[in-house]
Amino acid sequence: MIQAPRGTFDILPESAQQRKLVEAEADRILGAAGYRRIETPIFEATELFARGVGETTDIVQKEMYTFDDGGGRSLTLRPEGTAPVCRAYLEHGMRKLAQPVKLWYLGPFFRAEAPQRGRYREFWQVGAEALGSEAPETDAELIVLLADLLEALGVKGTRLRLSSLGTPDTRAEYREELQGFLRAHEGELAEEVRNRIDVNPMRAFDSSDPGTRAVMRDAPKLLDRLDPDDAEHFARVRGLLDDAGLSYELDPTLVRGMDYYTRTVFEFTSDELGAQSGVGGGGRYDGLIELIDGPPTPAAGWAAGVERMLLAAREPPQAPDLVDLFVAFASDATEASERGFELARNARRAGLQAQLELAGRSLKGQLRHGDRIGARYVAIIGDNGLARLKNMESGDEHDTDLGDVIPEILRSGTLS
Ligand code: HAM
Repeated sequence: MIQAPRGTFDILPESAQQRKLVEAEADRILGAAGYRRIETPIFEATELFARGVGETTDIVQKEMYTFDDGGGRSLTLRPEGTAPVCRAYLEHGMRKLAQPVKLWYLGPFFRAEAPQRGRYREFWQVGAEALGSEAPETDAELIVLLADLLEALGVKGTRLRLSSLGTPDTRAEYREELQGFLRAHEGELAEEVRNRIDVNPMRAFDSSDPGTRAVMRDAPKLLDRLDPDDAEHFARVRGLLDDAGLSYELDPTLVRGMDYYTRTVFEFTSDELGAQSGVGGGGRYDGLIELIDGPPTPAAGWAAGVERMLLAAREPPQAPDLVDLFVAFASDATEASERGFELARNARRAGLQAQLELAGRSLKGQLRHGDRIGARYVAIIGDNGLARLKNMESGDEHDTDLGDVIPEILRSGTLS
């Protein structure tokens, strides 16, 4: 039997309701702060991610679904949304608009990762990006908006980790300092960490090896090396979060999967999730638009995983799908079938939720089905322009003109 590809999933009607809630809450919370919806293509030129996300990142090196478009151009299923939004900002001349341009999106993203709980090869993100503002208020506002979204969705056990990465120059100098430190302690480090001193020294902070952890306690921290401007920007972001009553943990080892970050970075985790605990994260990326040939443009944003938010959320109450009217048939006469078809259609046009018998069930079977789908009324179409209208809640039933069925149900109130 053909199955959905590994790491992908079907969104069945049962979960569609919850996902609709994610969209509605994102629209409400982000819309109230002036963020407007944008959707970019599912695939982009591979170069956009190679340059934007960074050639040396895991995403670009190992996780992209890349293919030839048949005409010699390399395309990639989008692994993230920030580089595409920046591309769209440039392509549509949005820098001529009042800044910052505040945008949000919701859709599927693709990464060829090893699947596990909360980690998929096709997953959904809701994201927000503010382009054209350097203000620390932008960073703090974005973080508060994500906190509000997580709260509105009932995501449990959240913690916020926060750090600043400074500028690429500061980072390059710090990287050398850290590499020097790691080399001086090479003998005490795990082999895997030792092998990565040149390529990715920051990884040493994530190691679970006891020897490495002991060494790293005394390692130099990037937060202590920030330029005065960057340090002041970060202090302001922190001050605003403190004023907003949002608690966070300063985590100087916070590393994110993309190269584009500058200054503020943050991540919300949830204790409800296992190894894949990150529900949403982001930060400032003041250099990204230049990397894709735009003018220097400060910007910040975040993205949150829809599946992870739902995994970490308390079960939202599932409203049963109710139906106002189920149209059933006493006989299989063509005339009755036509009248019933028309009745269901007219009922829907009148704003009712109406379903038609479509499976050729016996009358008894039809009544049972009406009950199963939660129909308030069942109209059993007879032969002579009459219907037997049964109120499924009270059990009352009577014969009525077909033309009176809809007015009678409307008088009793509708579901929607
Ligand atoms: P990210 O941290 O790579 O950031 O992804 C954001 C969120 O997407 C994660 O916190 C996680 O909830 C979800 N996610 C990521 N990968 C997977 C996966 N394989 N399966 C399920 N969920 C996943 C970004 O993508 C940046 N573009 C965020 C950003 C926006 N930074 C600035 N602006």
